[in-house]
Amino acid sequence: MLKPLQGKPVQHDKQSNGYLLISNATANNLKNVSVSIPQGVLTAITGVAGSGKSSLIFDCFLEQHPKAVVIDQSPIGAMNRGNPATYTGVFDRIRKLFAKETGKNIGYFSFNSKGACEKCKGLGFREIDMHFLSSVTLICSECEGKRYKKDVLTYLYKNKSISDVLEMTISEAIAFFNDSEIIRRLEILKSVGLDYLQLGQSLNTLSGGEAQRVKLASELHKKGNIYVLDEPTTGLHMADIEKLIIILRQLVDNGNTVIVIEHNLDVISQADWIIDLGPEGGRRGGDVVVQGTANEIINCKRSFTGQFLKKVINSSFWGAKRLQNQILDASR
Ligand SMILES: Nc1ncnc2c1ncn2[C@@H]1O[C@H](COP(=O)(O)OP(=O)(O)O)[C@@H](O)[C@H]1O
Ligand SMILES: [Mg+2]
Ligand SMILES: [Zn+2]
Repeated sequence: MLKPLQGKPVQHDKQSNGYLLISNATANNLKNVSVSIPQGVLTAITGVAGSGKSSLIFDCFLEQHPKAVVIDQSPIGAMNRGNPATYTGVFDRIRKLFAKETGKNIGYFSFNSKGACEKCKGLGFREIDMHFLSSVTLICSECEGKRYKKDVLTYLYKNKSISDVLEMTISEAIAFFNDSEIIRRLEILKSVGLDYLQLGQSLNTLSGGEAQRVKLASELHKKGNIYVLDEPTTGLHMADIEKLIIILRQLVDNGNTVIVIEHNLDVISQADWIIDLGPEGGRRGGDVVVQGTANEIINCKRSFTGQFLKKVINSSFWGAKRLQNQILDASR
């Protein structure tokens, strides 16, 4: 379930927040650009393709602010052994519960250790090298993909084997376990809309958007960080974009600075501060066309982003949301 939008657009306030500066950026097509990015809010870097957004952030900002954390849609971890249970750390706790219940050693319930199926070494499948063709993956005939020795699966906790548990979805696991720490950690994944993932699903099978949300979820308990996302809505459905916006606002509410390079107008409409590059791509771009709040951008006739944003702010769900928050703010 999605939580209601908690973040609210704030009026950019020059006094109250510090800035992250980018000075004299000249990478690629940038025309000696200096901008200040307000801390503790959501900033959108906008502009047509080729206007210099990625150059400004990746070649210049990250160079000058190396502590910033980039969150992208690339797969999590190169190994195929990670899954939501191991990634969130709940698997250690689950194995402890099994060990306590059955009197067996905790390593016995690990598919990376003593409990592993000997044929596939706990992978659940075998990769067959086909020489000149791409290799073929076959479910392991010994454990039938369950990754464990047969004997391990006879030891049960609340009537379930460790392999049954890994087949549970995150929401099923939240209902099944009583351990508050296990529930707390899984609830974070649920809050970003990933309650349907299975505990044992390999992280390298996640879609780009899912991987991005898992990464964002693992940042949700932190504060004081700087996050950078380059076109995070790429490949996302409208419903996913809604989830993404809520997570980005949540990060800001938790006291982080979020910088998002974005062309999606719903996301842009939720930013507290917008830096619009352009006016066009390549050599005709590389300048700051306008910077300010959404209301300031839509009044800039020279800004393509402003003209499109105007339509969205006046007609979309997110535009209405923004207006509603502003009225609430004004009435406080
Ligand atoms: N490594 C590079 N070498 C030369 N030109 C580049 C390089 N990277 C980007 N550019 C050019 O710089 C301009 C800005 O690119 P980029 O910052 O990627 O734009 P945006 O992210 O806004 O789409 C474009 O015209 C692009 O072709
Ligand atoms: Mg780019
Ligand atoms: Zn096996």
